Order: sequence, then structure tokens, then C-alpha cells
Amino acid sequence: MTLAGRRILLVIAGGIAAYKSLDLIRRLRERGATVRCALTEGGAHFVTPMSLAALSEQPVFEDLFSLTDDHGMSHIRASRESDLLLVAPATANLIAKMAHGLADDLASTLLLASDKPILVAPSMNVVMWRHPATQANLAILRSRGVLQVGPGTGELACGEEGSGRLAEVMDIVAAVETALANAGPGATKPLAGRRALVTSGPTYEPIDPVRFIGNRSSGRQGHAIAGALARLGADVTLVSGPVALPDPDGVTVVRIETAAEMLAACQAALPADVAVCAAAVADWRVTAPARQKTRKVEGAPPPTLTLTQNPDILATLSAPGPARPARVGGFAAETHDLVDHAKAKLARKGCDLILANDVSESSGTFGGDANQVVLVSATGIEEWPRLSKTEVASRLADRIAARLAGGPA
Ligand code: CTP
Repeated sequence: MTLAGRRILLVIAGGIAAYKSLDLIRRLRERGATVRCALTEGGAHFVTPMSLAALSEQPVFEDLFSLTDDHGMSHIRASRESDLLLVAPATANLIAKMAHGLADDLASTLLLASDKPILVAPSMNVVMWRHPATQANLAILRSRGVLQVGPGTGELACGEEGSGRLAEVMDIVAAVETALANAGPGATKPLAGRRALVTSGPTYEPIDPVRFIGNRSSGRQGHAIAGALARLGADVTLVSGPVALPDPDGVTVVRIETAAEMLAACQAALPADVAVCAAAVADWRVTAPARQKTRKVEGAPPPTLTLTQNPDILATLSAPGPARPARVGGFAAETHDLVDHAKAKLARKGCDLILANDVSESSGTFGGDANQVVLVSATGIEEWPRLSKTEVASRLADRIAARLAGGPA
């Protein structure tokens, strides 16, 4: 990809990783972008306006209220005239200001005055990164469409280990390219022309015409994934058990009740490039459901149900063969030893990735709006922060799109 003719406004906040902005400017310019920099007061402690001006060959925005500043209202114009605002490094403080609409210096004013895509590259100490305030602020930004790259994990400048490292410069450049490819009227949707299959909700296995074996799955996560894949341009078939949810926009919904019906509907929806099994499929069905309502007889012992194991839809879709989707993902609902069980499930089912989630009673996952997942794939384990089910879905869809485009897991 190229960035020829693209105008990027790079906002540099006050973190030790600010020095990496110098390399970032060079890499963006190498690809043809014009880069203008806005430096916060904190950022100026780590990198000088002179270096930024020299490397970008553009004046640097620094102080909103400077009377000697000849930019006048040009900061508003600079924000409007950019194709993308990139915040790198994005400190916890600047992220908090963005989330709450503060505009008390030039950088935050530029960000608030912008109607252009914004990409943040967080960088901070691991404890600040994990703090619920930072995570909540980022969730607000993501819900408004602000894009995020990183942070990475490793040794931090403060000497601690963990998440909070600024993403690698080339990963930021790639995220800029993707963000610009997906923005604006001529946007290319990364999953356009791709077919996706998603399972969602519970299955109901009949005991007799009025009774069934079911479970508490709300279908929210599966429905959100179907919606997120459709927003990226995929042609999505959602095979759903009984749920009380509206159909996601732009998705073909096939309603089923039993696991056998779900498997048949999935097979009918093939071929697909992607399959995500988010349904809580009943592991067993009643071998011979009664044709008529079973009546209780005074004094007689309660009936005994004989069960048969249901087909494993995720394992069936993952089985090698010409119809196997290029990317198959599933969930592992666990109450303990999350990662170990997820790894075992990945191997047993033969899928490409497992999102392991904690469904213990205290987690509030079942039926709730939030989900805390760990992504387990052949390339490793990634702990995602506690996110809304919509955000988990968007992240997963982005990962699938990147993977199908030839990127990492
Ligand atoms: N799954 C499926 N078909 C089944 C059972 C499960 O497609 N018959 C899928 C689910 O949609 C989910 C994944 O498999 O993506 C894991 O389901 P889970 O119920 O957590 O695991 P099980 O396979 O049932 O294993 P266990 O009960 O031993 O944890």
C-alpha cells in the first residue's frame, strides 16, 4: 500500500516513546504521506519541535494560546485538512481527555475539532494501562469509532514488564494504511467478496412437544460477530437458535432449534471463507423425544431420559477438506483453567482460533453485555481487556480480515 498524497496529523503526547515519533515520521513520509506534527507540552520534554520540523519539513503546532504564533485559527484548518489524525504515543492522560471531550491545549483541541478518522497508539506503564479508568476511556473512544493500534507487551521504559509498549513503528504505519483504506466514501471494505458463517444462541433439544433441554445463551456475542463481519463487507449467514434479539443489519439469518438443524443449516451455507461458532450447542439430545406430551402418573417413578451426543458443529466445519473455511473460530466457555482448556479445545476441534471466556457465575458473561476473553491460536495467547460484546466482535472481525489479507493471526 502507499500513502501518496495522504495528509496525516501526528499528535505526540508526553511519554518516553515520543522519541519513536521521529522514525514514524520518516516511515510515513517514505510512503508518500505529508506529516504535520502537534506536540503537547509533555511531548516537548521528550522530543524537540526542531527535530519534528526538520524531519517533517512542516511547521510544528505547539501552543494554542501563543500570541506570537502566526498560525491563528489554522489549527482547526489543519485538523480538517488532514485525512487522518494519528496519536502516537497516546498517553493515559490524553486518552482520558479525548474520551471526555477536554480541549485545554492545542493537541486536545485539534482532536476535538476533527471530523476525520483518529488512530491512537497507546503507550504507558502497565498499571496505568490496566487501570479500569484507562480501559473505560478507550472503550468510549472505540465506541465512537476511534481506531487503536497496540500496545505491545514486553519490557517497559519504567523497568516493569507487561502491556503498555508503543506498537512497533511499522505496525503503526500498517494500521494507518488500513485505516485510510477503510475510511471515506471510496473505502474498500476488507471483507468485501468474502462469505462468512456464524452460529449463535442456544439449541433446544426436544423432550416432548412442549419440553426441551436448553441453556442460557443470549446469542449476543454471536449476533455481534455476524454484524461486525457484515460491516467489514462480508456476505454473512447467521445460523441462530432461539434468541430474543433483533437480526443484525445486512445479515442473512437462518433460524433453527436443534443442533442437528444447526449443522444442516451450516452445511447448506458453505462454502465460506470464515466460520465462527459462537452458539452454545447442547451436547446431548433426547434419543427418542416423545411424540405426545409426557404426563405424570401419580405414584409412578419419574421418566428417565436417554441421551445421544450431538454432532460437534465446530469440529465438523474445521475438519480438513475442500469445503473447510480458511479461518474457523470457536469459543471455549470455561469456569476454570481457561487457557489450558482452550488450548486443548483448539487441538481437539481442529479450528484456527479459540476465544476463551470465563462463564463462572461471578463473571456475568452469560446474558450480560461484557466479555473478557483470551484469544488462543497457533501463534500464541492474547489476553484481551474486558470489553463489550460488540467490541469483542469488532476486534475479532478485524483480526479475521487482517488474517485473510495475509497478516498475522
Ligand atoms: N460447539 C459446536 N457444536 C457442539 C458443541 C460445541 O459447534 N456440539 C462449539 C461452540 O459453538 C463453541 C465451541 O464448540 O465454539 C466450544 O463449546 P463448549 O461447549 O465450550 O465446549 P465443548 O465442546 O462442549 O467441550 P466441554 O463441554 O468439554 O467444555
